[in-house]
Amino acid sequence: MDGQQLSQRGAWGSKVAFIFAATGSAIGLGNIWRFPTMVSQNGGAVFVLIYILAVALIGFTVMLAELTLGRHAQKNPVGAFEYIKPHTPWKLIGYLGILTGIFILSFYAVVAGWALGYFFKTASGTFKGKVTPEMSNQIFTEFSSDPIQVFFFFAIIMGLTIFIISKGVKKGIEKWTKILMPMLFILIVFLAVRALTLPGAGQGISFYLKPDFSKLNVAVVLFALGQAFFSLSLGMGTMITYGSYISKSDNLVSSAGWVSFSDTLIALLAGLIIFPTLAFSGQPGSVGGDALAFKVFPLIFSEMPGGQIFGTLFFALLFVAAITSTISLLEVPVAYLVDERNWSRNKAALLAGFITFLIGIPAALSTGGMEFFTKINFLGLFAIIFGNISLAVGALFICIFVAYIWGVKKAVKEIHSGNPRFNLRPLWAFSVKFLSPAAIIIILITLIKKIITG
Ligand code: TRP
Repeated sequence: MDGQQLSQRGAWGSKVAFIFAATGSAIGLGNIWRFPTMVSQNGGAVFVLIYILAVALIGFTVMLAELTLGRHAQKNPVGAFEYIKPHTPWKLIGYLGILTGIFILSFYAVVAGWALGYFFKTASGTFKGKVTPEMSNQIFTEFSSDPIQVFFFFAIIMGLTIFIISKGVKKGIEKWTKILMPMLFILIVFLAVRALTLPGAGQGISFYLKPDFSKLNVAVVLFALGQAFFSLSLGMGTMITYGSYISKSDNLVSSAGWVSFSDTLIALLAGLIIFPTLAFSGQPGSVGGDALAFKVFPLIFSEMPGGQIFGTLFFALLFVAAITSTISLLEVPVAYLVDERNWSRNKAALLAGFITFLIGIPAALSTGGMEFFTKINFLGLFAIIFGNISLAVGALFICIFVAYIWGVKKAVKEIHSGNPRFNLRPLWAFSVKFLSPAAIIIILITLIKKIITG
């Protein structure tokens, strides 16, 4: 590839720029919404512990594998597999990733739209004064079953995502994540301090951080691993794509380490907001799903001193976290269209974004907007198929490809560029060859069994 073509693809301005962009991708609704939900439904602190192990042993391994693959090929996922093993079915894994990205984005952006809608609701005082649980439920039902409102905010999220992606790697993704990520960090620390100083916070903390090992079972381990893939943006080529813009002189190992660490830190901090706040309101630990962020939280804000500000900032946080993730999801198909089909970025972003919007229509109508999609819980179904199974399949094949087809030796050679020592080599090789694929196969079998037996 000549220099001209390289500069058209784009590249990060620095290692820090990559870390901002990749943590921006990783940190999202998965951390602030899905992680606390998982914790509350899977035994509290035990889940937290297993989750940290899953990130360290498997998530980090897959992330380093994806970054290495991407930087070596300097291409989108389809191009990367094709570059290393031309004219083989391996590129199908790349296509699966692109499809998965579009499908995840299609429902993710709907939920991000709810967060934006609730930002305006809270800011304008909808939850001021005496709000009862019935009222809070009703406000959410009215909002989420109103196609006009849902589509309006869904369209805004997609529009912003298309706008940022069309500006390119440096002037789009890099520029905006550098603005949004510090904002996110300040918001989350502020909210955690507020939550930790609420009366009753201690009770929430003990549910969250004191492990009760009697709650440990296979399901906890499986959910933890699935959550790790989703939260770290693994298994569909986001990190292959972001890795393809990394300079050859950067250290991939420390980059993967920073991203995994920051993502986990933010998830843990989100728990420090959610659980004390739940305890303050006397809610049981196990509330989750849309009920948590959109029904229970507004209720609590209405009871809390300064709740309107706290609530507004909470939904601002959800929105900011989501946008830096939606751009990373759209970047994958766009990189493919730019690299492999020679499309302009503008055209690619517009078309991929528009198609995603169309695919998102059933999800947007599945919370009351239309009976059929509501009944089959279309959004939830998509979340399991694409946000869970498809990512696990992708991650499995990425491990197998890097470990056995491309080969650990060649991958290590790529890692050595920027990290000549690579002290973690034996551990990483063991995990990418044996531990990670085995764990993923177990997760997949269990998931499929669960679906079949209902
Ligand atoms: N990781 C993001 C979150 O936690 C969501 C996300 C962005 C994602 N890109 C991804 C998930 C790629 C899986 C794959 O909210």
